[in-house]
Amino acid sequence: MADTLFPKATGTMGQPYRRYEAIEKVNGSATYASDVKLAKTAHAYLLTSKIGRGVIRSLDLIKASMIPGVIDILTHQTVGDEIKQTQALYSGGYVADSVRPLGSAEIAYWGQPVAMVVAESFEIAREAAGKIDISYDILEPASSFDSAAAEMEALEPMNMAVGDFSAAFAGAPVKIDARYSTPVQHHNAMELFATQCVWDGDHLTVYEPGQYLNNIKYGLAEQLGIDAERIRIINRYVGGAFGAKGFLTQRTALVAIAARRLGRPVKLVATREQGFFLSAYRAETRHHVQLAADPTGRLIATRHEGWEITSRADTLALGGNAITLRLYACPNIEGRVNVAKTDRSTPGFMRGPGEVPYGFAFESALDELAYALDLDPIELRRVNDTQVEPIAGLPYTSRSLMQCFDAAGTAFGWEKRTAAPGSMRDGDWLVGWGCAAAFYPTQVGNSAARVRLSSDGRVHVSSAGHELGQGMYTMMAQVAAEQLGVPIEQVTVSLGDTDLPPAIVAGGSAGTASVATAIMAACDAIRRRLGLDGAGNGNAVAAMQKSGLGTIEEFAETRAHGLPPESVQGMYRGRVAMSGGVHLPDRAQLTFGAQFAEVRIHARTRELRVSRAVGAFAAGRIINPRTAHGQLVGGMIWGISSALHEQTEIDPRNASYINANLADYLLPVNADIADVQAIMVPEEDNLVNAAGVKGVGEVGTVGMAAAIANAVYHATGKRLRDLPLRIEHVLEEA
Ligand code: MOS
Repeated sequence: MADTLFPKATGTMGQPYRRYEAIEKVNGSATYASDVKLAKTAHAYLLTSKIGRGVIRSLDLIKASMIPGVIDILTHQTVGDEIKQTQALYSGGYVADSVRPLGSAEIAYWGQPVAMVVAESFEIAREAAGKIDISYDILEPASSFDSAAAEMEALEPMNMAVGDFSAAFAGAPVKIDARYSTPVQHHNAMELFATQCVWDGDHLTVYEPGQYLNNIKYGLAEQLGIDAERIRIINRYVGGAFGAKGFLTQRTALVAIAARRLGRPVKLVATREQGFFLSAYRAETRHHVQLAADPTGRLIATRHEGWEITSRADTLALGGNAITLRLYACPNIEGRVNVAKTDRSTPGFMRGPGEVPYGFAFESALDELAYALDLDPIELRRVNDTQVEPIAGLPYTSRSLMQCFDAAGTAFGWEKRTAAPGSMRDGDWLVGWGCAAAFYPTQVGNSAARVRLSSDGRVHVSSAGHELGQGMYTMMAQVAAEQLGVPIEQVTVSLGDTDLPPAIVAGGSAGTASVATAIMAACDAIRRRLGLDGAGNGNAVAAMQKSGLGTIEEFAETRAHGLPPESVQGMYRGRVAMSGGVHLPDRAQLTFGAQFAEVRIHARTRELRVSRAVGAFAAGRIINPRTAHGQLVGGMIWGISSALHEQTEIDPRNASYINANLADYLLPVNADIADVQAIMVPEEDNLVNAAGVKGVGEVGTVGMAAAIANAVYHATGKRLRDLPLRIEHVLEEA
């Protein structure tokens, strides 16, 4: 209920408070899902498929069942139809992939659960799982784009066209026509994929880390065929998620069923390796980008076609070109998206899902165009800057892209750059500087919150939001403190429990904007009950004391701009309701940034380092500069990692991942991350939502890879169009 009574921030919503839960996290008393101790817990272990596609011919459980301490073994023969078919999130459902857990003998991908052993201890369950003999009828899987068995599909509803691209491109004086690719990557947060289930009569409580508690609750109810009101999901803390914990995975219903059969709590902690198959990941992508400009740099034609990987069961298409093609003014535009259906688990969201790979391709091509024009890459973006997106002609609610380039460029020292590739050598090191735009849709969702004000000035705020490490507790406390004019120390927060008012998924960088808005609305209702007009903040406690009331509690739900009324009811059934970005009928809302990288490549060894990175971001109101800074720096580090280190290697014979562990999956260490600076450019946007928040969760990652690849070109004259960028790719100078 966007309303006029929301007062302006007076300070608390903007202070770098320490984390609300800092002490609990440091002293170890914060309980994550697998830390919760339940009496008489049995332990589960998943056995997963060791083929990429086929059918289970036989399962021999005898040796496994004879091990003392084994209680039960779930297989497709004993589960089968007990778990109902549900839709993937992408088709309006809840699950990460729509393959039914232990639903049949069919194997859709390597790593699919084929049995779950339940035993008195984790060790016994693991040992027994290793003694299950399975034989398969094996079919040849499609592992990636070039597999014979992959089915390509052009997604015509995602086509974009403005003007006449082909004619404009053909006649243009300066053009770029290039292909790019990005690899498979996996987010493996510190906290493993854990689930604990306990039944009390016909009521089920689930402890599971998630980015969307109500998704787990309603999806699980559908899978188990029970009333969702009998299910409660709790997670007070999540040890990292980044998109991987935004879905209901294969494991939860299995653990729930095992606990019901046993009449005991059951705990599953999937292994690190299993985490590579259980949930979403960033699949490999391919891109064809064509850009044409006049000699002054003004864009005449842009085209971006993407190829993505999806699974046989579900079609996921991220379509990041819906944004890249709207970044700059241009009269002739064309966009296409294609998917290859493969025998892999369904890919999904990973920090900046479509924006990171499509942004790498487009912002690399733009750098190529700048060199072709002999124009500074910042100036190329300035020449084509626009306050109106060029496809539907909608105004941006706010856009501070060039302010970001100016702020980051100044901090980086860009004016000292000499343009020619290889011209900035420093002794044995080839030095290169590159930059790229960062962008992310400003999405906002429906949320609800409850706020209680007591006459002693204490405030309690609750919403079923999620603390992923991003600072949700702290943000919630700050908003309530400011809106009711109390010191933050007097505010307590509850989140991470489906018994609380429903909140948006902690994804799409939408959490803070959405939940803050609901808290503001609840505080506003309290002020109204106290007869305050909403203009002043400092007098709610005084008014409370005068009123003679002991406690006021108000509940509020908010609907985001662009969402239909029925979406509010959908929120109470675990439906993702989020809008914004480039999918509104009346306006475009995006967060912008500019990112700069310095690379150093050793002349003889070709050692490749990012020696400095500077980013500047304009994201509307920043509620907590400390946690926001952490998000942006963390995003930039991940961007460096995604440019130089991360790649999940696929074995084409069986569509498995070869380096599915944190020893072989290359990640940066401290020595790889030298100097990272994130600048927050002030920006006011009163349209995006009542809080004026645009979100910082993902934008920090988006421009890094292109900035680094562009810097590698500047250092060496060698244009690298395929991530990750490794030493072997810069072995010779151009
Ligand atoms: Mo994010 S990839 O929406 O958690």
